[in-house]
Amino acid sequence: MIKPEIIERIRQETDIVDLIGSYVPLKKMGRYYRGLCPFHTERSPSFYVSPERQSYHCFGCGAGGTAITFVMVYEKLEFPEAVRFLAKRLGIKVEEEHFSGENTFIYDACEKAARFFEECLVKSTAAQRYLAERGLSANTVRRFRLGFAPGGNLLRGAALRLGISEAGLLRAGLVVKRDDGLIDYFRERIIFPIFSVSGRVIGFGGRVLGNGEPKYLNSPDTTIFRKGEILYGIFQAKAYIKERVPILVEGNFDLLTLVEQGFNNVVAGLGTALTPAQATLLRRYNQEIILCYDGDEAGRKACRRSLEVLFRAGIDPQVVVLPSGFDPDSYMRQMGKESFLARMEEREDFVAFVVDGRRLDSVSAKREILNELTALLRVMVDDTSRELYINRIAEMFKIDRVRLDNIVKTGDPARDKASTKRRCGQLEEKLVAAVVLEKEFARIAYEFALSEILEDETLKKIARLVEENWKKDDYGPGLLMDLAEDDVVRSRIAQWTFPDFMELALPSIDEFRNRVRRFRSQWLHNQIKVAIENGDEIRAESLLKERNRLLKDI
Ligand code: CTP
Ligand code: MN
Repeated sequence: MIKPEIIERIRQETDIVDLIGSYVPLKKMGRYYRGLCPFHTERSPSFYVSPERQSYHCFGCGAGGTAITFVMVYEKLEFPEAVRFLAKRLGIKVEEEHFSGENTFIYDACEKAARFFEECLVKSTAAQRYLAERGLSANTVRRFRLGFAPGGNLLRGAALRLGISEAGLLRAGLVVKRDDGLIDYFRERIIFPIFSVSGRVIGFGGRVLGNGEPKYLNSPDTTIFRKGEILYGIFQAKAYIKERVPILVEGNFDLLTLVEQGFNNVVAGLGTALTPAQATLLRRYNQEIILCYDGDEAGRKACRRSLEVLFRAGIDPQVVVLPSGFDPDSYMRQMGKESFLARMEEREDFVAFVVDGRRLDSVSAKREILNELTALLRVMVDDTSRELYINRIAEMFKIDRVRLDNIVKTGDPARDKASTKRRCGQLEEKLVAAVVLEKEFARIAYEFALSEILEDETLKKIARLVEENWKKDDYGPGLLMDLAEDDVVRSRIAQWTFPDFMELALPSIDEFRNRVRRFRSQWLHNQIKVAIENGDEIRAESLLKERNRLLKDI
């Protein structure tokens, strides 16, 4: 770990205008600097840098952050590497320290459990036979550290010998509490350790040997493992997917079979629909992606949903459609590598995928497809790609491209809905923006447990981050953006550091305190109603007490 003082020094001594200016020409515009966004192609500049706040934000694609995150994204580096990069630029020597954070014992439990499952695989002929039947070589098994969890609570039993604390097992989700004690979470399953981007084991997937329900089981989310923010195989793939377009598949075995055949640029979801955080993670490595989902209707649906998420993240996806009844694993094994490669060659862009197999011979059919396409064009952040696609679609449907361009720009009912939603959320957003920007406000957020009463998931995450860090000396949006684990959070914070565009006037402290207090008492009012409806008298009572206390102070 790099010492926090060093990171703080780098944050203070790096001049973001200087840094970003060495990559992108910037022009001074009032309090800010402006240029063409380096993260998506655009003709008119919407990328801003704030010297006051030492932040950047692109109002086109949403990219935003600090000097450190800029280097991470632009130079494709992990956080510590980016810090070293900036340190070198400033001529600062980086000292390391051994640091034991509060999650250390969870990482430790995961690592030791992974080793235990690997040992158990060596001892289980049944499990080894299963993996061999599915075509995996010892090499791949080792590289992905596949393992086996036997039945009978063996992990819990071995914990003492392995040096895993009970708290570690519990907090890592490796055991669950039952009336009669702790039992193993994974039993009689092939184990797939899930690695963080930097290669630490943070969770596990497990598949039954043969048939049984549920077929797959993943670790529950923990403080180090959030399914929606990581991809299976990203650690092993990351060295390849900068140069080669990543292939996204659905299943663990799809990924492993492709790896077995020499495709190293593969990642897989974790049994959930692709999330914005996963898309932005991929965007760090490549602007393109190939989706290779199951050939059935469910696979096509998942594919369609992913397209939107990918466009919003600034990624241009292509799609490989497998024949119905196949997934990448079974296709590769039954039809062979040559045939799979041929399929990959035949990949189509999103237009072909959406149109694929549907008839274009009636006006209403055409209109329906066109609606689907324009909805996707609308969320595309890359101007050049959008224009190229508009040309292609205009030609295909024989309509005027200027008209199509107008349809894309206007008449979007979904967008209107979204904007009213944002307006309703404005009070919440204003409160959170204020606590991010000023330490005195942050203290008030802490005092009133603001994160508890927010509805919006992103704002809630931000408020939690604020409440955890408001005491630090270098508290501010910069620190929070460096600590933020997901890009959606970072982008939101970055926006607020450009108040000229956000109608963000900060209130006085007293006024702010009153607003938060009123907000909390309203929330208490609603919670009390819910508690009474649920017959939860104890909770209702304690909420009521808090509310009375609050009202007395107003
Ligand atoms: N998955 C999951 N939880 C489930 C079902 C699926 O996490 N309840 C995830 C797993 O990562 C799995 C992937 O979704 O690898 C794909 O699931 P599925 O299509 O059911 O996989 P199959 O191809 O049927 O599985 P296999 O090849 O192992 O028989
Ligand atoms: Mn399969």
